[in-house]
Amino acid sequence: MATDQWTIADILAWTQGHFENLRPGSPRLDAELLLAFVLDCPRLDLYLRADQPLNEKERGAYRELIQQRAAGCPIAYLTGEKEFWSLSLEVNKYTLIPRPDTETLVENTVEQIRNRQNKHSESQCLIAELGTGTAAIPLALCAELMNLHIIAVDCSADILEVAIRNLQRHESLLSPRDNRIELVKSNLFSRINPPAKLDFIVSNPPYIPSGNISKLQVDVAQYEPHTALDGGPDGLSFYRYLLDTAPGLLAPEGEMLLEIGFDQRTQLSLLLKDFPAWKTSAFLPDMQGNDRVWKLGLSELPLSWKLTCSIDNRQLI
Ligand SMILES: C[S@@+](CC[C@H](N)C(=O)[O-])C[C@H]1O[C@@H](n2cnc3c(N)ncnc32)[C@H](O)[C@@H]1O
Repeated sequence: MATDQWTIADILAWTQGHFENLRPGSPRLDAELLLAFVLDCPRLDLYLRADQPLNEKERGAYRELIQQRAAGCPIAYLTGEKEFWSLSLEVNKYTLIPRPDTETLVENTVEQIRNRQNKHSESQCLIAELGTGTAAIPLALCAELMNLHIIAVDCSADILEVAIRNLQRHESLLSPRDNRIELVKSNLFSRINPPAKLDFIVSNPPYIPSGNISKLQVDVAQYEPHTALDGGPDGLSFYRYLLDTAPGLLAPEGEMLLEIGFDQRTQLSLLLKDFPAWKTSAFLPDMQGNDRVWKLGLSELPLSWKLTCSIDNRQLI
């Protein structure tokens, strides 16, 4: 068949086969996402319009994307979009692509904040986030909760421009819900100036050991920004900083929730011994049973844990 007669169904079938060899992760989905992007339609429409041939311009644009994907470029950088917590977010080459893994951090953080708000329903909950990227985490929190003031920090102006546009996209999650996200360009927390002690610190920090980055799959190693990945020689630099700095920023019953690498629990438990300000520490698993969230508290039994205990009617201590 001449390629100028190729229909949507033909092209999807061909691309799927092409990607099965070169980029085997999710070949059909990748093909559909790219074609839906070129045709500017929802993915479902590809099936409703399966017999429609593509015109020359559409074929050219699609061919270009296929080549870039075949070379390893992540789909999200090609379409400029990624869905996180059911929110469509802009991404670009400066930002990490938000991962489904990080939804485990969001789930646990929502639960802790909710526990606090059940106790202090009137007061605004004050949160700082280190390394906001696309603002995926604060926007997801605002989608679930009200009355939040989140100070979200990143070190790059290029990244914060993307974050600003994502906040504009999802404005309905902000002032109409009494939520505020304050974006601050800052190296670590050096430039934040919270109006009071923080109730929570949340972060998905860079945590890949520097020497391991080049060994990651090409989509990540060659395309994603290394400042978003590089956790220093042992991958723990940001945890070390947060364990040291956060106690000075948090309220006495404040808590910190951090995403961690699936294999970092043992190292982090050892590291914690150097930071006696922390009185509680728990590693929380994702759906696969991997420890992916580290929850730390400054009081013997943080407020939210007490509430959990009384709700579950269990004795923890
Ligand atoms: C693993 S990414 C997380 C991005 C986003 N929160 C998410 O979960 O998708 C880490 C983020 O930390 C930022 N970062 C790296 N070093 C930083 C520093 N010294 N100060 C502030 N942010 C930093 C990076 O630019 C990146 O956006």
